[in-house]
Amino acid sequence: MEILLCNGYDEISEKAAAILADTVKENPAAVLGMATGSTPEGMYKRLIERYEAGTLDFSAVETFNLDEYYPLAAENEQSYHYYMNEKLFKHINVKPERIHILNGEAKDADAECKAYSNAIAAAGGIDLQILGIGENGHIGFNEPGEYLHADVHKTALTESTVNANARFFATRDEVPRYALTVGIGDILRAKKILLLASGKAKANAIRALLDDRITTSLPASLLKTHPNVVLICDRAAFGEE
Ligand code: GLP
Repeated sequence: MEILLCNGYDEISEKAAAILADTVKENPAAVLGMATGSTPEGMYKRLIERYEAGTLDFSAVETFNLDEYYPLAAENEQSYHYYMNEKLFKHINVKPERIHILNGEAKDADAECKAYSNAIAAAGGIDLQILGIGENGHIGFNEPGEYLHADVHKTALTESTVNANARFFATRDEVPRYALTVGIGDILRAKKILLLASGKAKANAIRALLDDRITTSLPASLLKTHPNVVLICDRAAFGEE
């Protein structure tokens, strides 16, 4: 795993945006795996700036988001549909038909997951996967547990994740208890992975990620089996502050 140690959040955002922009410049039809949460927001801002400056064109890219709460309507301001539209998609020229996000309102969650897997395969797989990391080491919504899932699936959120994400909702009770998420196999099939981590709250997860063990109790540790992962983190997440 390559580590880019940054002096703060802005540097993380700039480095991540530069790598994503280079990927799209090299391959205008790149398939991008998108992440939500606070961490990638700065990267998205910088991508919008590049688009507005005319140096980046998203017209041929295809995007697949990692996950979505379940059940939750796309119009709900806490949905990842809403987030992606507000933070990135409505500001750039990505084609709506090339945007894929799991449907948090699907009646048949299993069928939705299967269709999503098929769509990723039909696109030829993910070229660049952006990831944040949960305080408990989750990636996407692949939560720590006795076992992990390889494929797109419905999952229950852990108490730790419900608590961590409650800050975005009016009350803790409003946090959906389930999510649809791509699996660890889907993530590991990406050609390249960028893992972003900022702040002290992530230091335990990053410390555990950087020792030699691989365990389902730290889903991000599976990334150590992938040949092309770049961890972009600040000193606080690295445990130096
Ligand atoms: C959320 C998302 C993850 C995200 C993580 C960290 O629950 N499902 O994809 O990476 O938590 O979020 P944040 O960047 O806000 O710390």
